[in-house]
Amino acid sequence: MFFLPSLLISLAFIRATTAATAADWRSRSIYQLITDRYALPAGADPTACKTQDQTWCGGTWNTIRENLDYIQNAGFTAIWISPVNQNYQGPRTAYGDPYHGYWIQDASQLNSHFGTSDDLKNLSAEVHRRNMYLMVDVVVNNVMSTSINPDYSQYMFKNKSQYHTYCPVVWGDRQSEMNCWLGDTVVPLPDLNTQDAQVQAQYGDWIKNLVQEYSIDGLRIDAAKHVNSNFWGPFCSSAGVFCMGEVFGDDISLAAQYTAPGTLDSILNYPIYDALVEAFQIPGPTNTSGLALVHDAMKNGLSDVTVLGNFLENQDLPRWHNLSVDPQSLYNAMVFNFMSDGIPIVYYGQEQLFSGGTDPLNREPLWPSGYQNTTAYQIITTLNKFRNYMIRSSPDWLMSPSEVISTSPAGISLLKGNVVSVMTTIGSPPQNISMGVYTPFARGTALTDILSCTQLVIGSNQTVAVDYALGGHPSVLIPSQLMNGSGLCGYSANVSTNAQGKNVNHNGASAITPQYSSAFIAFFALLFGLVSLSL
Ligand SMILES: *[C@@H]1O[C@H](CO)[C@@H](O)[C@H](O)[C@H]1NC(C)=O
Ligand SMILES: *[C@@H]1O[C@H](CO)[C@@H](O)[C@H](O)[C@H]1NC(C)=O
Ligand SMILES: *[C@@H]1O[C@H](CO)[C@@H](O)[C@H](O)[C@H]1NC(C)=O
Ligand SMILES: *[C@@H]1O[C@H](CO)[C@@H](O)[C@H](O)[C@H]1NC(C)=O
Ligand SMILES: *[C@@H]1O[C@H](CO)[C@@H](O)[C@H](O)[C@H]1NC(C)=O
Ligand SMILES: *[C@@H]1O[C@H](CO)[C@@H](O)[C@H](O)[C@H]1NC(C)=O
Ligand SMILES: *[C@@H]1O[C@H](CO)[C@@H](O)[C@H](O)[C@H]1NC(C)=O
Ligand SMILES: *[C@@H]1O[C@H](CO)[C@@H](O)[C@H](O)[C@H]1NC(C)=O
Ligand SMILES: *[C@@H]1O[C@H](CO)[C@@H](O)[C@H](O)[C@H]1NC(C)=O
Repeated sequence: MFFLPSLLISLAFIRATTAATAADWRSRSIYQLITDRYALPAGADPTACKTQDQTWCGGTWNTIRENLDYIQNAGFTAIWISPVNQNYQGPRTAYGDPYHGYWIQDASQLNSHFGTSDDLKNLSAEVHRRNMYLMVDVVVNNVMSTSINPDYSQYMFKNKSQYHTYCPVVWGDRQSEMNCWLGDTVVPLPDLNTQDAQVQAQYGDWIKNLVQEYSIDGLRIDAAKHVNSNFWGPFCSSAGVFCMGEVFGDDISLAAQYTAPGTLDSILNYPIYDALVEAFQIPGPTNTSGLALVHDAMKNGLSDVTVLGNFLENQDLPRWHNLSVDPQSLYNAMVFNFMSDGIPIVYYGQEQLFSGGTDPLNREPLWPSGYQNTTAYQIITTLNKFRNYMIRSSPDWLMSPSEVISTSPAGISLLKGNVVSVMTTIGSPPQNISMGVYTPFARGTALTDILSCTQLVIGSNQTVAVDYALGGHPSVLIPSQLMNGSGLCGYSANVSTNAQGKNVNHNGASAITPQYSSAFIAFFALLFGLVSLSL
């Protein structure tokens, strides 16, 4: 009689202290949302929200909790929500109200616009009940003000000496980027003195409490590159969970600096984002060889690219569909993010082909879309289901590094484990061309394209030909023999398991693929860059 309650108590204790690490996050797939813009409470006027008004539209932690099916049904295993801490309380500024959550006032309190402490706990509990993770956005670099001489008593750090002295940021000067104030003179962002030991200690206590109180599984850290990189190691240790920082820009050496030991676990993959735009934007330079260069430079320059956050949109960038109207450009770029190394991230509304431009137009309310099951939503669902299946069935797949196997102006192909992804830059109009891609598979091997559910057969020379008679769609190919258990293309989602609970399919997997050395792959990548396309 005494056993059961004490067991329950210890289980509850275990849950509360189970901290998700980078290794735990590697297998996740993240849906990023702005709390104010994701879902309305019942009865609210769905036409009232005007994105350009830059004010609150009514989303809350409760409305996220009530609408998690839409996210989970698309195969996501984590959500990233906008900052939860108290924001600026004063009159409306020239840049509107802090509906986005990034204008921190007192970080020791929650933002009452989005609910109560219990509401946030309830959201966290519901996310965990679904075996999903909760990532919370935190702003550490700065607070917000409407003057360069703010009243410091309103902040969590109340002494002026805990901030850097005011100076406007000089972009490109790293000392200035770290120690001067972001924002402008209308909305200056007072910059914390993160070199100060007392500030470091207080921030450590703060993040430890926040993570434990709300059972947070991971942090997205705003403006991380505006803080000295060695601040982050101790901060993330105090948090005790995975940390993914915003290091804006395509500077690979800075990306390496902010992921070195003693800094962050991960950063948002801005270098790959920039290269994806250059490769897939229509019209655009179709710089697929540049994408291959950046892919390899990241892999060689950073300690672990498998935990970087891969994205095409976020609250600071124009929507992909704003840059490039042809939906095939989005679908092909999405395949790169899901099927190369890294954690895929989809920004809410991307699945609805939202097309807002720069801030604030990229923060549209989601509800006018009707949460429809669009083509983009379906492709994302398939990519998530397939990636989740690969992770289940093939434990070393995530760590097996993605390799670029060919590039040409018309496309790029990738190999990761047994998965060959063929992406094209040609866009929607059908074209009478085919792309031949050299693969590791033997002649006669049947492959399934998980996106179209068509079968292709490896021809002579281990090459598969993808054609574009129906337009420039992406293809994700895997030996059909490995499809059983995926729940895709009519294959059962159930697999027979042996006594240890291991997926039988996996044993079949290793038998199929000969092991390739990367030198061998590189040789054919070079060759096929020249010969693979009949365009
Ligand atoms: C969660 O929500 C339920 C239903 O609204 C409520 O009964 C419960 O008290 C809430 N729990 C917490 C921890 O907020
Ligand atoms: C603020 O910090 C300075 C320098 O550390 C210190 O001398 C002063 O006493 C502090 N003021 C308050 C009110 O804590
Ligand atoms: C393609 O991208 C690479 C890598 O960013 C860059 O070095 C190169 O100049 C680009 N080429 C063109 C034609 O834009
Ligand atoms: C992209 O956004 C801008 C505003 O930033 C807007 O004027 C333009 O129409 C948008 N383009 C598309 C294709 O939606
Ligand atoms: C979306 O539509 C596809 C194709 O009809 C269907 O297979 C899928 O189950 C739908 N998804 C949801 C969440 O309704
Ligand atoms: C496609 O190209 C082939 C070979 O050049 C040609 O025989 C065929 O007629 C073309 N089809 C179309 C629809 O243009
Ligand atoms: C097979 O591939 C190699 C390397 O790309 C190439 O040199 C050779 O010509 C190809 N043979 C055939 C029959 O396509
Ligand atoms: C998987 O197995 C479960 C339990 O054995 C069964 O209820 C379910 O229908 C099966 N699903 C599929 C897709 O075969
Ligand atoms: C898939 O696997 C199940 C369980 O091992 C087996 O019963 C079924 O015949 C397989 N189906 C195919 C198409 O191979």
